[in-house]
Amino acid sequence: MNTDEQAGPLLEVNELCVDFRLKGGEVLHAVQGASFAIARGETFGLVGESGSGKTTIGRAIVRINEVSGGSIRFKGREIAGKIDAGLDREVVRKIQMIFQDPMSSLNERAKVDYIVSEGLHNVRKDLGEAERSRLVEKALLEVGLLPEFASRFPHEFSGGQRQRIGIARALIMEPELVVCDEPISALDVSIRAQVLNLLSALQKEKGLTYLFIAHDLSVVRFITDRIAVINRGQIVELSATEELFARPLHGYTRALLSAIPIPDPRREHERTPIFYDPSMHDYSKARPDWREVFPGHFVLANEAEEAAFRKRYN
Ligand SMILES: Nc1ncnc2c1ncn2[C@@H]1O[C@H](COP(=O)(O)OP(=O)(O)OP(=O)(O)O)[C@@H](O)[C@H]1O
Ligand SMILES: [Mg+2]
Repeated sequence: MNTDEQAGPLLEVNELCVDFRLKGGEVLHAVQGASFAIARGETFGLVGESGSGKTTIGRAIVRINEVSGGSIRFKGREIAGKIDAGLDREVVRKIQMIFQDPMSSLNERAKVDYIVSEGLHNVRKDLGEAERSRLVEKALLEVGLLPEFASRFPHEFSGGQRQRIGIARALIMEPELVVCDEPISALDVSIRAQVLNLLSALQKEKGLTYLFIAHDLSVVRFITDRIAVINRGQIVELSATEELFARPLHGYTRALLSAIPIPDPRREHERTPIFYDPSMHDYSKARPDWREVFPGHFVLANEAEEAAFRKRYN
């Protein structure tokens, strides 16, 4: 690897737009000008409610979704749109995705052995059968499963085990960036922490970088370094995690925070959920733009709103 590739963020998403053409010709602007960068080794959270465009961004990064505008750079190289075959092979290996629903993301008719090593077929044609099996075993062990599970089918496993199979399938590719798309939201509450702990142990061990998608701020609070909040296809706020919890600026972020239950029952009844009403913004005189209100803390706001934020926290 040359030094140019080492410098700078691992991933840079700039003014990303993704449109979907719906039946009847209508166009849905699912992602509208999203920009963020992720440093090597960082866990970057992307949080917003259902339908806000989180998975669409993840799928654009792994090149499943076509982009309509903007750029995605991986180690400084453009990977959105048409790219050469060599770079495509590299992206297929180095950027992996763990999917939202482990019950539907595994091929039911294939054995675990095939599922876990499927991605290798195109990028590691040099591998012999024995070596391939050895890599599957190693990946299964790394996610806390037994090597003999390789000969079984997905329906024989619990939700948590299935998500571990999904993680093994990503790991076997030796990725640098993993898009974790709500990897625990479909799991029983009792096993969520185990899967989170596994992901964080793997990150340390392998120096992975994570884009961690969630619809709930409480899930990402203790695992992310920074968080971007997305509402209806637009990133509205981005900052270091503790800073976001200490000084939430955007009305939408404040509403998400107010939705987190307080674990203390004596205080929980004092919590007042705030509802986000987009008409709270008066953008008739000045449109919002991306503003750095505090160091490293960005928000989509106009000048008047920025002044109010500064006042609120002074
Ligand atoms: N292939 C597609 N064709 C048409 N519309 C799509 C497609 N994929 C996503 N959408 C729409 O784009 C918007 C964003 O969807 P997306 O799946 O990115 O949301 P999300 O934030 O991941 O939500 P959730 O938390 O429910 O997973 C939604 O309105 C969705 O219906
Ligand atoms: Mg999603």
